[in-house]
Amino acid sequence: MNETLTQLKDRFEQALVAAFGDELAGTDPILVPASNSKFGDYQSNVAMSLAKKLGKPPRAIAEQIIQQLDVADFCHPPVVAGAGFINLALKTSYLEAQLHAIHTDPRLGVARSQHPQRVIVDYPSPNIAKEVHVGLLRPSVIGDCLARILEFLGHDVIRLSHIGDWGTPFGMLIAYLREAYPEALKESNDIDLGDLSSFYKAARKRFDADEAFQERARLAVVQLQAGDEETIQAWKIVCDLSNRTNRKIYDWMGLSPEIQERGESFYNPLLLGVIEELDRLGLLVKDSGAKCVFLDGFTNKEGKPLPLIVQKSDGGYNYATTDLAAIRYRTEVDQAQRVIYPVGAEQTNHFAQIFQVGRRAGWITDEVEFFYAPLGSILGEDGKKLKSRSGEAVRLIDLLNEAIAHARNDLETRLKEEGRQETEAFIANVANVVGIGAIKYADLSQNRTSSYIFNYDKMLALQGNTAPYMLYAYVRVQGISRKGEINFAELGTDAAIVLQDEAEFTLAKHLLQLDEILSAVEIDLLPNRLCEYLFELSKKFNQFYDRLPILQAEEPQRTSRLILADLTARTIELGLSLLGISVLERM
Ligand code: ARG
Repeated sequence: MNETLTQLKDRFEQALVAAFGDELAGTDPILVPASNSKFGDYQSNVAMSLAKKLGKPPRAIAEQIIQQLDVADFCHPPVVAGAGFINLALKTSYLEAQLHAIHTDPRLGVARSQHPQRVIVDYPSPNIAKEVHVGLLRPSVIGDCLARILEFLGHDVIRLSHIGDWGTPFGMLIAYLREAYPEALKESNDIDLGDLSSFYKAARKRFDADEAFQERARLAVVQLQAGDEETIQAWKIVCDLSNRTNRKIYDWMGLSPEIQERGESFYNPLLLGVIEELDRLGLLVKDSGAKCVFLDGFTNKEGKPLPLIVQKSDGGYNYATTDLAAIRYRTEVDQAQRVIYPVGAEQTNHFAQIFQVGRRAGWITDEVEFFYAPLGSILGEDGKKLKSRSGEAVRLIDLLNEAIAHARNDLETRLKEEGRQETEAFIANVANVVGIGAIKYADLSQNRTSSYIFNYDKMLALQGNTAPYMLYAYVRVQGISRKGEINFAELGTDAAIVLQDEAEFTLAKHLLQLDEILSAVEIDLLPNRLCEYLFELSKKFNQFYDRLPILQAEEPQRTSRLILADLTARTIELGLSLLGISVLERM
């Protein structure tokens, strides 16, 4: 109802000027959703805020405003209440017309942004040469969702995976491959990352235990940085393998296929330029051999300014240098206007520091927004970071598989209870969609900055703010269409929508809010708002469904209610798709 709000705002501004003169032009009418639906749909609190300025009691001001307020085309006559609130209730005819408009709109009334931007979303950005573990879940799911929403709103979205594909771990890995599995470097196709991950562990063991090996690993890093051909080839094999395996996981999770790998190594040729530019700008300071930038507002334990090291004393660059090069590249070459980093909250300082240096170097200007979206952790039942039984990080594949297994188990129990026979293909598909959808939804429905406890039973529950609850509401609507042999697509665009019952009004008004919710997410990048919206929608639909006959209703209610049901299903489908979750026709 964004559009409604904009219109109301305009009318209020006109009324304020008409009542009190030009000096009130541009006054914010302080319009908010009504605190209680008894009072209507919106209320304005402007009269209270003007009492002092105008030297009048708020109620008198409110009365004067409503005498000038012309909203008859979409509201009932405004009413002054309480201390001086102005209550507004939308007319039924207006709501019906709005619903009709979204019913015939494939975008369900969601407008495209009037200021489309080029947006980079930096995700999922794993460190490769290591098997993907649960730590990658939140960046993947949240990054993917934000990219989808911004793209739907008309922005030009570039998905960049800033993979950790360079540095010391590769030295260790290359040295170990050379030593233990020289043939593996040649027949890369026969190794999967499962093998590589045990190689990694073995390499780590060798590294920790043997000094000569450490030396060889260090040498491999030097060779890698020097561009030695054989070493680069070994490194490429490792990267390819990791990326291929990761891609399979992304596909399985339903992440966008548009993710581009642009890893740390991509910026190698640009690092020297970063150092030179910082030096030229006079930001670079040599501190015990290392080159650094002293940060404003960051101090060490002794209260001294903290340095951000950009080149170590041995000449090597680090994570921060690479990210500075990326900042520069993203503004200067990619011409991004917004760059979003959904990354674990433990990197808060890192991002504050590189953004500060980026700003001081002039790579971040007022024309571009760098948005770090810190992510809370996924916790086990004990409230500590989720670990496997053996105390190691949980592999992402295991987590997904287990969710699917739980979903299958729940489904098979339910099928038995309901005495239903279904094919294996049906069961496998439902378990897959529900299992993965539940994991994603559980993650997205939390405020991204908070940590949450990972629990299969909770995320798979058929009741509550879960994916299965939303999917079930969608399936209910499809059930109506099957039972009544109704093709929703053929519900004529000339069919009338009639609102009479309270449950119809409640559902209808909620359906009209999608646009407003997505506009809010566009700004604050909090997908849990969309989850909350869909949860409310499903609840309101279920109340409507439990209370009112649909297929058995007389016309014109029958068609009107079918349209409301169809709109609900389409809104859920669109909303879930923006969260990266598919729907099911039956479950
Ligand atoms: N690979 C990093 C890690 O796993 C995350 C990278 C986030 N993106 C960035 N531009 N720093 O910690």
